[in-house]
Amino acid sequence: MDPRVGGQSYLVTGGTRGIGLATTRLLLDEGASVMVAARTTESIERAAADLGENPRVGFVEADLRHPEGADRAVTAASERFGELDGVVNNAAGFAAGGGHPDRAAWTELFELKLLGYESVIQAALGRMRDGGGFVNVSGIASMRHWPGSPHVSAINAGVEALSRHYAAELAGRRIRVNTVVPGVTATDRYRMAVQRVSERDGIDPAAARERLDGGVPLGRATDPAEVAATIVFLLSEHSASTTGATVVVDGGTIAAPGTARVG
Ligand SMILES: NC(=O)c1ccc[n+]([C@@H]2O[C@H](COP(=O)([O-])OP(=O)(O)OC[C@H]3O[C@@H](n4cnc5c(N)ncnc54)[C@H](OP(=O)(O)O)[C@@H]3O)[C@@H](O)[C@H]2O)c1
Repeated sequence: MDPRVGGQSYLVTGGTRGIGLATTRLLLDEGASVMVAARTTESIERAAADLGENPRVGFVEADLRHPEGADRAVTAASERFGELDGVVNNAAGFAAGGGHPDRAAWTELFELKLLGYESVIQAALGRMRDGGGFVNVSGIASMRHWPGSPHVSAINAGVEALSRHYAAELAGRRIRVNTVVPGVTATDRYRMAVQRVSERDGIDPAAARERLDGGVPLGRATDPAEVAATIVFLLSEHSASTTGATVVVDGGTIAAPGTARVG
């Protein structure tokens, strides 16, 4: 299916790794232009090398826990590629499991993932064409118990509520706002979790991987490219009547909760 995003301009936050990098790659493959925002020079340099020379991709270093970072990311995108057709709010750090999160962990995730997404939406609104779209990435902890992670559950649920709020507010401009909800996805953070479980439980990495994947009804972690395909579909005209939706990409974990968890 041709996603029909060619010639369009997007901002992808956290586009240097994992789901964000896969989304950037797919948008570029389909002929779109992408400004990638991330926090560190290291991840930007790695992603730039990975994606190769391409005049349709740009990078901006921006700490999205702060409103100035959101402004910088959106300004870089619109100055380089003009009016925006869409924004993917995806940036989030690794939420370390184990024990109850302290206040600092709550604040860190809240500022990046909920207030950060809100700041990017606010910064982007004046620079997005009518008929454009936002996709906000949450996570299945919003829908089920995730041991040791009440902040992840609450903040991801907040992201989904934020999407519905803006879907209603922006429908008059035909701007659509949807949430994609990944389950266990084979990104860097997943590989770290495999390593951690292997060390913690004294088992080899293949057995640790099996332990993490075992609770996913489809029997494997989702590939980041599969989450990216859903994100790009929701940015595209193929989903022109879909707004305020929460789309789960989790191998069936929410439908049939097992023991799957990252960490
Ligand atoms: N992977 C999973 O299994 C899974 C499951 C459920 C939900 N999710 C959600 O999916 C999204 C992507 O996850 P992922 O696993 O692909 O992430 P990832 O591989 O850890 O990559 C995170 C991205 O966000 C950027 N980032 C982190 N902190 C930032 C900050 N303060 N300002 C700007 N950029 C920042 C990182 O850039 P730097 O490296 O430069 O900091 C990187 O590009 C997140 O919202 C995550 O919560 C993932």
